[in-house]
Amino acid sequence: MAQPVSSSPTATAPRHIAIIMDGNGRWAKQRSRPRTFGHSEGVEALRRTVEAAGELGVRYLTVFGFSTENWRRPVEEVNALFDLLRLYVAHDLDRLVKEGVRVHVIGSRERLQPDIARIIQDAEEKTRHNDAQHLIIAFNYGGQDEIARAARRVAEDVAAGKLTPQDVSIERFASYLDTADVPAPDLLIRTSGELRLSNFMLWQAAYTELVFVDVLWPDFDKAALQSAIDTYQRRERRYGGAEAEQP
Ligand code: IPE
Ligand code: IPE
Ligand code: MG
Repeated sequence: MAQPVSSSPTATAPRHIAIIMDGNGRWAKQRSRPRTFGHSEGVEALRRTVEAAGELGVRYLTVFGFSTENWRRPVEEVNALFDLLRLYVAHDLDRLVKEGVRVHVIGSRERLQPDIARIIQDAEEKTRHNDAQHLIIAFNYGGQDEIARAARRVAEDVAAGKLTPQDVSIERFASYLDTADVPAPDLLIRTSGELRLSNFMLWQAAYTELVFVDVLWPDFDKAALQSAIDTYQRRERRYGGAEAEQP
């Protein structure tokens, strides 16, 4: 997890963009439609964004689809969100396989209906050999839950004698997270104007550049993605180091 030390503006495209896809409910409300209509339109925005990310050379894209706290919503809405995951995978998996997209799903597998767990496993299995682009879907995901699950597995391995407490470095701990085979996000975008992380990528976002945009998620498109990337490229990433000296 050691970060490269660099203090020049980030001229290159971000390798990994993570998105908190927020604002579906408000988008629907503005149109006097049920919140679930906003979620359906949100899937269209997701399709556009996966394609745009590929075109803009973004190798890793993580999207927050359902948080460990979203269980607090009315059961009809929770069910609708699960149905949309089913539909998205049913409609898009073959295309993702063909286009070289590897799908990873991060989050807790507990409490998931058996068919959802199977769909997730199938999507990961069928795209396992792809490497052109990576789509990481955070579903039933919470950063605190992910860290607690990782800590539990570390403790189990210590108890089993596979690891000593001294072995638990930042890098070793990160290898127990759901994102073990994914680099940390360079850029995190949250739509809808809310200024918080809502339990997303708490460990991984240590040095991620944060960009908050006022667009509601169903309106997000390639131009909005490009604009967030432009903002990112004007930032100076210091990783705790000193400001770049002027020549
Ligand atoms: C984001 O939109 C989608 C999920 C959380 C699944 P919201 O449903 O949170 O929409 P708002 O924030 O209420 O407008
Ligand atoms: C975060 O959005 C979760 C997802 C986008 C899946 P929320 O809408 O659940 O976050 P809060 O409740 O406004 O913090
Ligand atoms: Mg929201």
